Amino acid sequence: MCDISHELSKISAKRSISVNAHQNGSNMKKLLSILLLATFAAAIILTGCGKNTTSKVAPATETAKEEIVDTHSDDGRFVVGISMPDKFLERWNRDGAYLKDEFERIGCEVILHYSNNLIDVQIEGLRDMIEKDADLLVIAAVDGAALGPVLDEAKAANVKVLAYDRLIMNSDVVDYYVSFDNYLVGQLQAVYIIARLGLNFTDTPKNIELISGDPVDNNARYFYAGAMDSLKPYIDKGSINVLSGQTDFYVTSTAQWSTELAQQRLQIILTSYYPDDTRLDAVLCANDSTALGATRAIESDYGSENSVVITGQDGDIANIYNIINGTQSMTVFKALNQETIVAVVLGKALLTGETPDESLITKANWSFDCSFNTTDYDNGAKIVPSYLLKPVTVTAANLEEKLFTTGYYRRNSAGMIYSAK
Ligand code: BGC
Repeated sequence: MCDISHELSKISAKRSISVNAHQNGSNMKKLLSILLLATFAAAIILTGCGKNTTSKVAPATETAKEEIVDTHSDDGRFVVGISMPDKFLERWNRDGAYLKDEFERIGCEVILHYSNNLIDVQIEGLRDMIEKDADLLVIAAVDGAALGPVLDEAKAANVKVLAYDRLIMNSDVVDYYVSFDNYLVGQLQAVYIIARLGLNFTDTPKNIELISGDPVDNNARYFYAGAMDSLKPYIDKGSINVLSGQTDFYVTSTAQWSTELAQQRLQIILTSYYPDDTRLDAVLCANDSTALGATRAIESDYGSENSVVITGQDGDIANIYNIINGTQSMTVFKALNQETIVAVVLGKALLTGETPDESLITKANWSFDCSFNTTDYDNGAKIVPSYLLKPVTVTAANLEEKLFTTGYYRRNSAGMIYSAK
């Protein structure tokens, strides 16, 4: 595979001597799309049809300082701009690294940019990619509703746009969306709480509190809706009380998915509504960063002895330790390598002029579940055709099987957990 990529760059580089690849991009790219297809086919053969892709990506240890990794070499290969929200959360480090690795493996140039969770920084990064003649943008939006104007610039420059993990709103420029089934994430969290609190088998009302995600992240509403559609019947009939009275999405939301803000809000709730031995049974936390905040708040400000059920999402390493030590009850695990594989196969199809549909899944024959959805992801300007993956519930009982036997995580000789794919 490396040899083929190398040959591809040599051929491209030779042509670049006499031809400006970007002024004469269309001929060059026609030739390159043929070469890329050949490269990709070879990659498929050598990696077993995209199944069990092993990543050479190191664990996410980079600091937030290095904002741009630009491997653009101006040699006429397809240029892919990858725009990630931030480096604070474990997952985006991995998403960025996997995507970069995989797009480079099929012969693309990659510009990887982190936005420090700031809308303006993301927009600047995207503008930079468009100026550097990106052919495809893969974007996990900081604010799903803020990218319209810069995407119009992308459209004018004929750039394809793939919304990654988070739907980009109010723009008809978005070509496709790749994500996990976000509604199902919330449902899995709620179903877990219902089962753990035995809500179908007890008349004793239970007390829960809610910590939702960032309101500018469109996913946060899907997580909330999935969870609340399941919990609401129990709230309505009085089997669940929310003593703070805070059930509304906005009131329960957490700017930037911040651990500290989640912790502070729950601390205030605990001191105001759970004095003495008032029992709190569960906290519905939308993801692992907010779950960390909830765990800390309970450690510092909760008076009763019971262990509070805490949900999460992602399977961040700190939270895996907490599931093992019993301070967090579950997480909804999303295998990021599946999401990146789908994004790269889809991206490659877009770059080579295809109009992907359901058959992308059939042809790829992945070992994991992926569905094509053309009805549910309306971004306000169009229904964005979506490829959706299946998240899974991980608890102390199945953690070894779901995370370690599958090879997503490993332990080093000192017993420390690290992410392996
Ligand atoms: C992602 C989650 C993540 C959250 C915070 C959401 O859009 O789907 O996996 O925990 O953002 O970054």
